[in-house]
Amino acid sequence: MTALIIDTDPGVDDAFAIALACSSPEVDLLGVTTVFGNVGLAMTTRNALRVLALYGREDVPVAAGADRPLVYPHPHRARHVHGDDGLSDRSNLLPERRTGVAGTDAVSLMASLLEQAAEPVTIVPIGPLTNIALLLAAHPAVRTKIARIVIMGGALDGGNVTATAEFNIWSDPEAARRVLVEEEVPTVLVPMDLTHRCAVDAEWLDKLAASGPRGRLLVELTSTYREHYSRALGRDGTVIHDAVAMTEAVHPGLLTPTSLPLEVECGHGPSRGMVIADRRGTAARERSGSDGGREVAVATDADLDAVRAFLLARLGS
Ligand code: RIB
Ligand code: CA
Repeated sequence: MTALIIDTDPGVDDAFAIALACSSPEVDLLGVTTVFGNVGLAMTTRNALRVLALYGREDVPVAAGADRPLVYPHPHRARHVHGDDGLSDRSNLLPERRTGVAGTDAVSLMASLLEQAAEPVTIVPIGPLTNIALLLAAHPAVRTKIARIVIMGGALDGGNVTATAEFNIWSDPEAARRVLVEEEVPTVLVPMDLTHRCAVDAEWLDKLAASGPRGRLLVELTSTYREHYSRALGRDGTVIHDAVAMTEAVHPGLLTPTSLPLEVECGHGPSRGMVIADRRGTAARERSGSDGGREVAVATDADLDAVRAFLLARLGS
């Protein structure tokens, strides 16, 4: 079993990622924490509860976390991509969960779940990294209870919210730098360069919709999202970024990681939020005097058809 904590900003693709975790027998879902991002914190929290209710998971504790980044104001959300309610304005199709949020905050819930865990836990952040940075700063002792952190975020060759930055990192670059550069916890980064290559098409979505009531509901939640990605890609394609990252957490081996030192641009120029991966190779880095700092496993490739097939099989189960 893989014990998981998901930190999320649902979000259509977050909903697919949570659904994948709930549909995977290998997963022991310890908790879900929410963060601002695609929409505001109240909405991401309500959406997380509703997706868990769809899978009958009244047992999974949910706690709300940061409603803003660590340092600078950042009013930008992604309603144009995910709809005003974060789920293509179709969140009302999902059941309300009888069990509300836990009586604590996200960081406290993550800390207590980690402290109580018998084995190290995989944390899957699929939104801005604010909660994770706060957890590691406020509870340094929990580092030994984290097996690895599997993050959806970053762009190595061109962003989605600016020319250089991907939304999750751009939403809180200071938090991202804490987690990706300053920490030492084993980390996998699944960047949008790869998630875009895993885009699913109308046929894939039709098969999911035909798989049963939950598959049909997940597809119902994609209407605004599909319109955005068809325009953004210029073709029939929907990028379920977070579900690709969750694939690595749930079923390691389909994504191919490359170990790279990273930096995150925290200035206020045009490259704010950019993730810089030093791909020169060890010898070149040493020749140039780079100290070859901490390295992160960046998912640079995958068996794309196998990822899409895995997602359909699990989400359609
Ligand atoms: O850039 C894509 C990421 O930003 C995904 O996690 C999406 O849900 C948004 O949070
Ligand atoms: Ca997300």
